[in-house]
Amino acid sequence: MGNQADRSAGEAAPAKNGALITTSGLVKQFPTGGYLFTALNGINLLIDRGEFTGLVGPSGSGKTTLLNIIGALDYPSSGSAVVLGSDTKHLNHKQSARLRNHHIGFIFQTYNLLPVYTVYENVEFPLLLLGMEADRRRRAVTQALEWVGLTDRAQQRPAQLSGGESQRVAVARAMVKKPEIVLADEPTANLDAENSHNILRMMVELNTELETTFIFATHDEKVIRYLRRRITLRDGRVVEDREMEPDYTT
Ligand SMILES: Nc1ncnc2c1ncn2[C@@H]1O[C@H](COP(=O)(O)OP(=O)(O)O)[C@@H](O)[C@H]1O
Ligand SMILES: [Mg+2]
Repeated sequence: MGNQADRSAGEAAPAKNGALITTSGLVKQFPTGGYLFTALNGINLLIDRGEFTGLVGPSGSGKTTLLNIIGALDYPSSGSAVVLGSDTKHLNHKQSARLRNHHIGFIFQTYNLLPVYTVYENVEFPLLLLGMEADRRRRAVTQALEWVGLTDRAQQRPAQLSGGESQRVAVARAMVKKPEIVLADEPTANLDAENSHNILRMMVELNTELETTFIFATHDEKVIRYLRRRITLRDGRVVEDREMEPDYTT
């Protein structure tokens, strides 16, 4: 794994059968009122292609901080996060944007849809960032809307949708470019049991079909039972990391 600093994001192909994501001695500290608060304290993880895994732990345990670092939205204070062959702390602004735009889909608790755009346009947006031409864009958006069962809502705006539908749009937006990695931060926090189940089932299908790696940050039991691997954080440390037998029953 030499020469990481030379690889530019976007061109770096993940090694076959190798870890998609590696964190080594990852520490994250935030300055807070004159001292440094340690939010992550020595995280060592390997996450492979096709995993369906969750960072689980109480509020404040460091889940979002770790997800943001894996997504190259933030950087370690020390140690490293290597994502698809790129050590994120060696990426400049443009390179980390390229890594995210090409290879990582994000799903948030609050959906983060653009209210003035239609469902179709929200899902199309990541493809415009890639500069994809119109025909391919149309095919990809059409397919992504089919995946989440929202074909007939394409021309509506987010305000006309329920929470469950909004999060399905967010799933389509994350998946439309067929990224290697999807990062989902508390995606069911605003959903009832039925909608949570529908979203998770959809993600399991996409994970199987496209081999997309899903990483959740969650403390929701409804999500946890779908996981095939549960990484438990407490006070910025991994206190347990185990394979799970997922429970897909309603
Ligand atoms: N930008 C920041 N500045 C200061 N402290 C932060 C910042 N981001 C997170 N923290 C702190 O780091 C800890 C972990 O936060 P977070 O990763 O959001 O936890 P979780 O997602 O598990 O609830 C919390 O104590 C939080 O207050
Ligand atoms: Mg969080």
